[in-house]
Amino acid sequence: MRLGLVLVAALCGLGAARAETPDQRAKALMAKLTLGQELALLHGNFALRAYDAAYGLPPAPPVPGALGSAGYVAGIPALGIPALQEVDGGLGVSVPPDAQDGHGSTPLPSGLALAAGFDPAMAYAAGAMMGREAFERGFNVLLAGGVNLTRDPRGGRNYEYLGEDPLLAGTLDGALIRGVQDQHVLATLKHFAMNDQETNRQFDNAVIGEAAFRESDGLAFEIALETGHPMAVMCAYNQVNGQYACASHHLLDDVLKRDWGFTGFVMSDWGAVHSALDINAGLDQESGEEFDPVTYFSTPLAVALSQGKVARARVDDAVRRILRAELTVGLMDHPPVRAPIDFAADGAVAEQEEAQGLVLLKNTGLLPLSPTVRRIAVIGGYANAGVMSGGGSSDVVPKTLPQLLPVVQMGEGLAGIYTRAILDPDAPLAEIERQAPGAEVRYDPGLYPSQAARLAKWADVAVVFAPKWETESQDVPDLSLPAGEDALIAAVAAANPRTVVVLETGNPVLMPWLPKVGGVVEAWYPGAEGGKAIARALFGRIDPSGHLPMSFPASTDELPRPVVPGQDAAPGQITPVDYNIEGAEVGYRWFAARHLPVLFPFGFGLSYTSFRFSHLRLGPGLGVSFDVCNTGKVAGATVAQLYLTARNGVAMARLAGFARVALAPGETRHVSLTLDPRVLADFDVAADDWALPGGTYRFGLGDSAADLTEGSAAHLRAQRVAP
Ligand code: GLC
Repeated sequence: MRLGLVLVAALCGLGAARAETPDQRAKALMAKLTLGQELALLHGNFALRAYDAAYGLPPAPPVPGALGSAGYVAGIPALGIPALQEVDGGLGVSVPPDAQDGHGSTPLPSGLALAAGFDPAMAYAAGAMMGREAFERGFNVLLAGGVNLTRDPRGGRNYEYLGEDPLLAGTLDGALIRGVQDQHVLATLKHFAMNDQETNRQFDNAVIGEAAFRESDGLAFEIALETGHPMAVMCAYNQVNGQYACASHHLLDDVLKRDWGFTGFVMSDWGAVHSALDINAGLDQESGEEFDPVTYFSTPLAVALSQGKVARARVDDAVRRILRAELTVGLMDHPPVRAPIDFAADGAVAEQEEAQGLVLLKNTGLLPLSPTVRRIAVIGGYANAGVMSGGGSSDVVPKTLPQLLPVVQMGEGLAGIYTRAILDPDAPLAEIERQAPGAEVRYDPGLYPSQAARLAKWADVAVVFAPKWETESQDVPDLSLPAGEDALIAAVAAANPRTVVVLETGNPVLMPWLPKVGGVVEAWYPGAEGGKAIARALFGRIDPSGHLPMSFPASTDELPRPVVPGQDAAPGQITPVDYNIEGAEVGYRWFAARHLPVLFPFGFGLSYTSFRFSHLRLGPGLGVSFDVCNTGKVAGATVAQLYLTARNGVAMARLAGFARVALAPGETRHVSLTLDPRVLADFDVAADDWALPGGTYRFGLGDSAADLTEGSAAHLRAQRVAP
């Protein structure tokens, strides 16, 4: 009996010990740390020595203990505190082939392809795949989770993010972050905040009112934070309202930690720290210290502490946040276990994401191509070698490659630091040949329009690939396709109107040839198995079902800033970017408020079948339901979109809810949603919360911001929503 009681007590005791929260365990660890050990946890290295010269860094020895990636923070093994092996990025594990086993990783398609799928489950699967590959490569931090809105359709990193709408971007980013962190790998909600363009990014000053910020970029971050529970946030390079983001007490303490209840830690972007005193604003860790003139969070911070300019309690809080984050995600209890990457399974995730994200923009009936077509001309876009990917810290070296990594030099200076474009394998040409085994398929690189036109004349159908490389650190000057691609497409279409254009772009583009072609597919950056997804869509093996996550403008004249700000800024010149021009009216909301025509609207996407939306019911409360029916003859998917179109008689355009629905021919699905009141409300700066006015709310249901077939209205009572 006694022994039994002792055993139970022991087990309970053990159980109690195991029941300690991450915060309690962090507190217990804190008690064992010296100040020196604490400070060592507050700064980390850039550990990609192969890239030092490219970044203008002086030669340096390898960082002891680092695997060789974007970041490394030494741990304290004696206390079970692991080193942080930090690897980029938002679209897969970004490790140069010469680091580690050289086997590369699985590049996901552009974040815009994920966004065009409007599918949180796909976002989770993409995050889980990236997180798993990071874990298998030995990394415990994946610098993924970018959610900056498309405020400028020339933004160099828009391809990494999730479009122009806060509800869509925040929802998908939260799901992606959850997917990563469920693999016991820390993700980083980034770049907080208003890092919405790349040119002059370290010296831009984003000027925006508080309400406009909270209702747009802020809402995307807030939704991602509450649905994804990221335990790290990366603060951005730029200033916001005159204060560097990584030194902004308002952003980091007032909004992120106080209003939104963020319990993780804030890491800087690489080279985004300007003083040891930035810690007083809520910054917790200095990343990539080699990019700073001094390692601020080392000796300068110790001096500031000794001078009373920084409180010890603030240093303790920063360390506790870091430890709590690691414990919450499981970095201490589940250290990475090296394992070979399953490229087949992970490639299937990439292919599925691309298949769901392909947007059919035009189809005169030319698509899907018949498998019995006899002569096919495939033209341009390196389609015989691979598919385009974006440039910058998120670029992923694909799986084990033949001798030569298919890379296209984009010239010096075009992209500041980044000058090479990796072509992801799985060339569309080979995949098209597989889809039409009986056809004669000929390829022309598209260097000479006259030569391409002759091939097009020979063919039954011509497929022209039109890539546009975009990159971190540099916005593009306009919305045109580069390198004479417009002239190439025009020449091919003049020779054969049965021409399909496949865009591989990281942003919207202008299409002067649009009336002359029979079909247009936006494939974004297609990812590891992008060629398969494109070919299967062209031949109707899958229904291209993506919907645009960003508006395609008809010209740059209509944009809030017709010229990209900072294009001519001198190095180091602080350049104000007035985001108050549009405020929270980003993208489709801007065009709708001014009744401006666009080339293709937000949410637009054709299909090989057709759909009907019906039975829209509003209420009770914020509940909404409706039916979607596939009225066509083939299986397909659509994205049902519900927009707030008027509030108390005032016209509005706000995506209030969405659902991706895949249906067999004739099938009907009943969909129920609960709306987020913040999308319908205004942010009340004085009260620091959301105010939903009472009154009549009119909604429209359809498959794009510009095509709402079902409408209804409801009366909602006034309410306040705390952040
Ligand atoms: C870069 C990027 C950031 C990336 C980091 C590490 O400058 O802004 O997204 O994670 O530095 O490479």
